[in-house]
Amino acid sequence: MSTITVENLTKTYGDVEALVDISFEIPDGEFVVLLGESGAGKSTLLRCLNGLTSPTEGTISIGDEEITGPRDDVAMIFQQHYIIGQMSAYGNALTGSLNRTPFLRSLLQRNDRADKIEALNALDTVGLLDEAGQRAERMSGGQQQRVGIARALVQQPSLLLADEPVASLDPASAETVMGYIRDAAKSRNLTTIASLHQVNLAREFGERFVGLKDGELVFDGYREDLTVDVIDRIYGNIETSSIRNEREANA
Ligand SMILES: Nc1ncnc2c1ncn2[C@@H]1O[C@H](COP(=O)(O)OP(=O)(O)O)[C@@H](O)[C@H]1O
Ligand SMILES: [Mg+2]
Repeated sequence: MSTITVENLTKTYGDVEALVDISFEIPDGEFVVLLGESGAGKSTLLRCLNGLTSPTEGTISIGDEEITGPRDDVAMIFQQHYIIGQMSAYGNALTGSLNRTPFLRSLLQRNDRADKIEALNALDTVGLLDEAGQRAERMSGGQQQRVGIARALVQQPSLLLADEPVASLDPASAETVMGYIRDAAKSRNLTTIASLHQVNLAREFGERFVGLKDGELVFDGYREDLTVDVIDRIYGNIETSSIRNEREANA
């Protein structure tokens, strides 16, 4: 695992500047929450980080290596879980090892013993060891998302990315799933960047925050610096007023 360095990253789509001259550095093992309203550039930044999109200008590196395309050691958790319904939780988790299993062997389900142990470990990490044999389609949305986390862990990534991983879940499941992502990352010292649009969840789970507005980096700092004014800068007044109301209600 190593430092992630984003340097002068710009991404344009035609006339749209999705990211404008973004630079930041993330040390090993940090849990970063990416904040920004819809259209701010969060998904574009995550896609550049996982190599699915190439920068218009600037570079992203993991350690000394510049990211030039998709890498096996960068795992991504999506809002939709993209898991295979007819397969068990265990089978789904095991697909995270496909990048190091020859195709024919995986087809015959002859995965390495080490990979199988890894899959069970990952399911244990997300609290689903007892459900390992359960068909994914029978599981709740939150459980399916936890299977997606397990699969990402089995990939043995050096960087974990999550694009609005709890956006489709109810508030209670969102909390649970965010808790599992954070605990999994922390117990493995896994550098993680997760985008979240819910400010309250972000403040609860984030350690470091990167705020985007209209493709520009408007905040980069730690929890104690994430003041109401900063949230204003990132979101405008709507979110802030809800936090102010909440504070007044709690006062
Ligand atoms: N493939 C694309 N083609 C054209 N414009 C895009 C594409 N992807 C994103 N954009 C634009 O880039 C901006 C940032 O989008 P996005 O990264 O999806 O923001 P977020 O994830 O924060 O909602 C938006 O204006 C969006 O319309
Ligand atoms: Mg997005």
